[in-house]
Amino acid sequence: MERNIVWTDKLKVGIKEIDKQHKIFYKFVNHLLDECLASREIDPDNTRKRISKIRTFAVKHFHSEESLMSEFNYPYFKEHREKHRDILDRLMEYKIRAEYRELDRDSTLKFAYFLIEWFSNQTLNDDLKLANYLTKEVGFGRKLIIKLHEFF
Ligand SMILES: [Fe+2]
Repeated sequence: MERNIVWTDKLKVGIKEIDKQHKIFYKFVNHLLDECLASREIDPDNTRKRISKIRTFAVKHFHSEESLMSEFNYPYFKEHREKHRDILDRLMEYKIRAEYRELDRDSTLKFAYFLIEWFSNQTLNDDLKLANYLTKEVGFGRKLIIKLHEFF
């Protein structure tokens, strides 16, 4: 069924700023979905802008997570960063395809659902693992919260 995606508390990892950023990611992907669901035709320029916005946000968000991982010697840093890089490549590929007018409504819709699925899996597995590590093994202090705020 084609529908908008709702962010739920089930996707929370328990670190306020990370959850806040994830929510924003969902919002941006939903804008892309909304556009596809609204009609049979999509505006290629809007599509490019929306994908670009998602990518720019993802870069910032991943940077937040990666600086925490590196600062606190997270043991799965490399694996996690690899996944970030893969999805950023994918976003770049689709941004370029949009620029070249290669994306129609259906392929964009499929990509938006792919992003939601990727992101939900990433949140519920890798990000939760990171959040648990930070919370339980390091202790998540006020200093870190301020650090994440700098990105907004
Ligand atoms: Fe994340």
